[in-house]
Amino acid sequence: MKKLAILPIAALIGLLFLQANPKPEADTVLAFHPEAPALPAEVKAIVQQKCYGCHNANSKNEKGKAKLDWDALEAAKKSKALASMGKIKETLEEGSMPPAKFLESNPDKKLTAEEAATLMQWSTGKKK
Ligand code: HEC
Repeated sequence: MKKLAILPIAALIGLLFLQANPKPEADTVLAFHPEAPALPAEVKAIVQQKCYGCHNANSKNEKGKAKLDWDALEAAKKSKALASMGKIKETLEEGSMPPAKFLESNPDKKLTAEEAATLMQWSTGKKK
């Protein structure tokens, strides 16, 4: 019986600990934490313009949607999100996204060097 009495005390200490450690700052690059599932604003802005059209839950680009869905990524658990970020890093290294064919008719969708660097920093979890 005595052991059981420890449980509520442990829970209380846990609660106090959580309150002493508030949510991570909004500028946390690795924001895929249950308490901060949002993408950093600067990353989101680039993704919206250059990637989201093909990679969202309602995308008509079935291949693109199957490979990457930013909506799912934002809601994903950390391990899953990190796996996607690894893939994103690869495409940035290769310069393969958006696809070259698409860029032929939509040259304005090409990532600028700065945008690519921002995405790269985010996808590798590094701060600027
Ligand atoms: C015009 C549509 C389109 C746009 C815009 C686009 N993609 Fe893609 N993406 C695709 C398609 C199609 C595939 C699947 C390619 C394949 O399977 O060969 C893909 C695949 C991927 C993959 C998965 C690669 C793999 O090997 O698993 C990643 C990561 C990705 N895209 C990231 C991005 C990023 C980052 C952007 C924005 C900078 C972007 N995409 C913009 C169409 C697009």
